[in-house]
Amino acid sequence: MATNFLLPLLLLALIAGSNAGSIAVYWGQNGNEGTLADSCSSGLYSYVNIAFLTTFGNGQTPVLNLAGHCDPATGTCTGLTSDIQSCQSQGVMVLLSLGGDSAGSYSLSSADDAQNVANYLWDNFLGGSSSSRPLGDAVLDGIDFDIEATNGDFFDDLAEYLAQFSSQGKKVYLTAAPQCPYPDAHLNTALQTGIFDYVWIQFYNNPPCQYSPGSIDNLTGAWSTWISSVTATKFFLGLPASPDAAGSGYIPPDVLTSQVLPAIEGTAKYGGIMMWSRYYDVVNNYSATVKSSV
Ligand SMILES: *[C@@H]1O[C@H](CO)[C@@H](O)[C@H](O)[C@H]1NC(C)=O
Ligand SMILES: *[C@@H]1O[C@H](CO)[C@@H](O)[C@H](O)[C@H]1NC(C)=O
Repeated sequence: MATNFLLPLLLLALIAGSNAGSIAVYWGQNGNEGTLADSCSSGLYSYVNIAFLTTFGNGQTPVLNLAGHCDPATGTCTGLTSDIQSCQSQGVMVLLSLGGDSAGSYSLSSADDAQNVANYLWDNFLGGSSSSRPLGDAVLDGIDFDIEATNGDFFDDLAEYLAQFSSQGKKVYLTAAPQCPYPDAHLNTALQTGIFDYVWIQFYNNPPCQYSPGSIDNLTGAWSTWISSVTATKFFLGLPASPDAAGSGYIPPDVLTSQVLPAIEGTAKYGGIMMWSRYYDVVNNYSATVKSSV
């Protein structure tokens, strides 16, 4: 009797637990990766980070860099507004990614500087208003911190100021892309606020904590450290979408699904995987290949 009653519940729990993750992707740094709208309508992704706002802070005029997609300086990126709205209407969250490993220049010089940058982001990409919104009227879902330069000073203030705008209506999501060695050299101050929603950890270009052929131990060790050290809603395994997408750290799809995911997807706060980047994902069909196991 008890068994008959419990079995369907157990099966339901297994089914629900077996496909619980989702996929985040970076879009914007390769003009040959297809449109933002097509990325979203592929049905592969739950989160798209528009990459990158390469210059900001320290009194500088912010610069958006979307490679060959459009030219923010002449206003042609405002055409992305309908793409962003189409993504959102399909349930895909769209965020603006700050920083990157690029030729830009970013740093914060004080808490006041952080407040100015937060105000700029609110007015130009979120729920505020400005006569010069680079992506037009679409209201993004949040801000991603891909900070790979600076010592991280005042990025905790920036996160706190951005979060305060959530009280004006639509929640401002905060996400971050730290490197897998813990603690991250550039994002630790921000992450210690404990207010980030999603953390997509870069398990590539980082031999001490990434997958190495034949061993998942360094990766799973770093994963445990991250989830036990940082307060966030969900954590994602950040991966190169093809062998060419990063200097090291590529995990063949069959290894990901047979060894790596089974070792981490049972952990509390497992959110799924993050792909660098949409371009390499199109080339290598990685997300489509692994999605049913994520
Ligand atoms: C794991 O990382 C350590 C350095 O922290 C390195 O010496 C070791 O070779 C790595 N393990 C593998 C299997 O690559
Ligand atoms: C990508 O992978 C999916 C799932 O395995 C498959 O259905 C599809 O045909 C593949 N697409 C290409 C272009 O190889």
